[in-house]
Amino acid sequence: MPAMGSMSYRIAIVYHSAGGNTKALAEAIASQLPEAEIYRMSEFDLRTLPDYDALIVGTYTWGNGELPAKSAALYEELEQLPIASLKTGVFGTGETNYNHFCGAVDHFRDMLFAKSQLLVTLKIEQMYQDSDLSRLQKFASFFQG
Ligand SMILES: Cc1cc2nc3c(=O)[nH]c(=O)nc-3n(C[C@H](O)[C@H](O)[C@H](O)COP(=O)(O)O)c2cc1C
Repeated sequence: MPAMGSMSYRIAIVYHSAGGNTKALAEAIASQLPEAEIYRMSEFDLRTLPDYDALIVGTYTWGNGELPAKSAALYEELEQLPIASLKTGVFGTGETNYNHFCGAVDHFRDMLFAKSQLLVTLKIEQMYQDSDLSRLQKFASFFQG
């Protein structure tokens, strides 16, 4: 039992970005969710995951619709954890001229759908634009209240 801990709804946004597109999207999502804590994948300590009600994962796509190595490592660790009651979402950036647009989002989606309470996914073409704002707000709304 937690002692006098905070009773608030805790959200972690954990992202991996090489060139900055996914980082910018993560920050834009965070700006819609003022209480959310935002981490690079390499700085998030999975041992703190039980402290959170919701986990939002962000990744770009590499190879042929694949997860970049850091994202694959998180995927493999998450898969082993007891996350059945954790609310989750996944977002990513990619490029529609690849065969499998945002394939990494689809990989996380399938695993998180099976293992956790997956609420929503979001795929954005490279750097998000003002015209993506309504989709971004819709995504964030699944984690509000
Ligand atoms: C070698 C390479 C392979 C890629 N493969 C895919 C892919 O299969 N599907 C896709 O949607 N995007 C693919 N991309 C595009 C990146 O996912 C996209 O540029 C993304 O926005 C990069 O995010 P970042 O700026 O956060 O690193 C690839 C990019 C590179 C350089």
